[in-house]
Amino acid sequence: MSDEWVRIAAPATTSNIGAGFDVFGLAFNEPCDIIEGRKIESGIRITSIEGPGAEMIPYDPEKNSVTIALAEVLKRTNADFGVEVKITKGIRPGSGMGSSGASSAGGAYLGHVLTGEKLSLTEVIMCAAAAEGYTSGTMHADNVAPCVLGGFTIIRSYEPFEVLRVEPPKNLGLVVALPDVVVMTADSRAVLPEHVKIKDLVYHVGHATSLVYAMMTGDLSLIGRAVGDVVFEPARAKLVPHLKEAEKAAMAHGAIVSFLGGSGPCVMSFYDKDTHKGDVIAEAVKKVYNENGLKCDVWVTDCGAGCRRL
Ligand code: HSE
Repeated sequence: MSDEWVRIAAPATTSNIGAGFDVFGLAFNEPCDIIEGRKIESGIRITSIEGPGAEMIPYDPEKNSVTIALAEVLKRTNADFGVEVKITKGIRPGSGMGSSGASSAGGAYLGHVLTGEKLSLTEVIMCAAAAEGYTSGTMHADNVAPCVLGGFTIIRSYEPFEVLRVEPPKNLGLVVALPDVVVMTADSRAVLPEHVKIKDLVYHVGHATSLVYAMMTGDLSLIGRAVGDVVFEPARAKLVPHLKEAEKAAMAHGAIVSFLGGSGPCVMSFYDKDTHKGDVIAEAVKKVYNENGLKCDVWVTDCGAGCRRL
């Protein structure tokens, strides 16, 4: 049995991106979770969990997203070995930055590497999505898809499962602001309406299709106009303090659009790297939270690649 440790970087991601609830996703360059594993005789065990929010994450392999996804890959490939796992979180749970998605995708990708890359990347995403379903209560793949593939991803369909990948424009910069508030995905989904009005459906189809067009043509101004959400963000706004003020501050300091990241509470802003400075936008959003007595972490980053072996 080889005892060589395999290290996987699994990036943070944002999902929904306005009108694409459970459909759109985008990988960041940073931060990343680091998932390490080595083959053992049998079974799956977690021997270390470190990093922000580690105390919120279970060691029980049947309750941990990394090992649920990993076990799914081992099962699908009939692996005849077990795995010891170490987890270093770069993304704290309850952030809206795809924390459980990075754990799930990182675990599935680790299994993929350890089993000799027998699955397709679509199958790796499906194994990761099964783990996401366990932790958030509903199976959705809009974080795990970009986490595995990188870039901008679209879940064309869940049944049958099909995912598309688009390379985002090179000058699309990202600012992520994470206030010191925890919003768990299951809670953020519990506040959503059960029904959508036809007029809101029309708004979402128009915006979602335009965002794909804008990503494919590199039209940043259209990206700004195409990110819009009249259903999900309004329902969730009560869970995220000072969301509107934060978005307004980002826009006033050069963002092309600012919106709720995933299920929240992070506030995402897009900007044009050729003409504006991400640091200025980040400081403006951070100031809104600090002035209201809340700590706020910020990242100024780019669109990035998917899971990779380090
Ligand atoms: N699309 C999901 C949601 C992403 O907004 O609930 C959260 O993981």
